Parts: sequence; structure tokens; C-alpha cells
Amino acid sequence: MQVVLLTHDHDRTGFDCGVLELNRFLKATARQHNDKGISRTFVLIDEQNPKVILGFFTLTICEVDIKAVPVAYVKKYPPQHGLPAVRLTRLAVSVKERGKRYGEALLGEAVHRTATIAEQAGLLGLFVDAKDDAAKRFYEKYGFVSTDGRPQRLFLPVETFLQL
Ligand SMILES: CC(C)(COP(=O)(O)OP(=O)(O)OC[C@H]1O[C@@H](n2cnc3c(N)ncnc32)[C@H](O)[C@@H]1OP(=O)(O)O)[C@@H](O)C(=O)NCCC(=O)NCCS
Repeated sequence: MQVVLLTHDHDRTGFDCGVLELNRFLKATARQHNDKGISRTFVLIDEQNPKVILGFFTLTICEVDIKAVPVAYVKKYPPQHGLPAVRLTRLAVSVKERGKRYGEALLGEAVHRTATIAEQAGLLGLFVDAKDDAAKRFYEKYGFVSTDGRPQRLFLPVETFLQL
């Protein structure tokens, strides 16, 4: 298994994660955004069948308001707007491939890539908007915490993943 940048070679139309909006993003937008540098989408593939997308995730750089940071982590930061972070905007596994720990592997890779950005440029952590309670439970398993006032917005502090 390998995680690589999404390119023309991957069969985007054959991918179905069961969530229309995520399928559409992968088919219509993800590669354009890669080309334009708006975000980066990476796909999980099997080297034996490298065109088939087993799952994907998308990362983008963002700025967060100090109010977006959970209260337990606020104190160490200056009270200013526009603090740097990374947002995991999408994560999905093909419906045919669920339960094989591919979601965990993709999340691990997203965190690993965020750690590299943290080391090189500095940031607060990784944010994600869980699309429902099940997705929220999935992220909480891996140390994400709810942000104040927006329980579906989750945060993985940089100190948590740099320790891993
Ligand atoms: C969420 C998702 C990525 C999980 O992928 P997966 O490959 O099936 O999950 P894994 O096999 O890696 O599961 C790892 C662990 O998470 C748990 N898990 C998986 N999906 C879960 C869900 N929807 N809710 C809660 N826990 C979940 C598994 O039970 C497993 O737990 P365990 O360590 O106790 O055995 C997948 O269900 C998916 O693509 N869902 C649709 C899109 C989505 O909801 N994306 C989240 C972005 S908001």
C-alpha cells in the first residue's frame, strides 16, 4: 500500500465512499486544487492495481482565530487573530474497502505530513470538521478534542502528534 499525490492516472470516477459530496470533490475539484496549490489531495493505492483509489484525504493550510482553539490550549498562544494551522478538509475510504484500517492509515499519513509542516514552518495543530457523530467518534479515538462552542470542530494539538 502506498499514499501518493492524486494525479491524472487515478480512476476518480470509479471511487465511491457513500458520501456524494466527497465523491464529487474527488472527481471534479481535487486535482484542480492540487494543480493550483489550494489544497493537496493524497490517495491510498495498492501497487498491484495503482489506478484504483482505495481512499483519500485532503489537507490545506489555514488561519484560525484564537477563539477556535480549545480553552485548555489557549494560554500558551498570543491573543491574536490568524494563528497558523492545517485543516483536514476531507477523508474517506471506498465503501468496498471499509474496516481494513485504511481510514486509520490515511489519518496517520495526514498527521505525519502535518508534523513535517509543523517542523518546517510552525503551527498550532490539525483541525477537522466532523461531518456527523460517527465521524467525530472516529477522530476522537486518535486524540482529537472538541473545540469550544463548535463540538463538531475537532483539534489535534501539535504537541500531541509531535510526541507520537
Ligand atoms: C470514517 C472512515 C474514513 C473510516 O474508514 P475505515 O477504513 O472503515 O476505518 P478503519 O478500518 O481504519 O477503522 C479504524 C477504527 O475506527 C473505527 N471506525 C471506523 N469508522 C468509524 C465510524 N464511522 N465511526 C466511529 N468509529 C469508526 C473502527 O471501528 C476502528 O476502531 P477499532 O480501533 O476499535 O477497531 C470511513 O468510514 C468513511 O470513509 N466514511 C465516510 C466519509 C466520512 O465520514 N469521513 C470522515 C470525514 S468527516
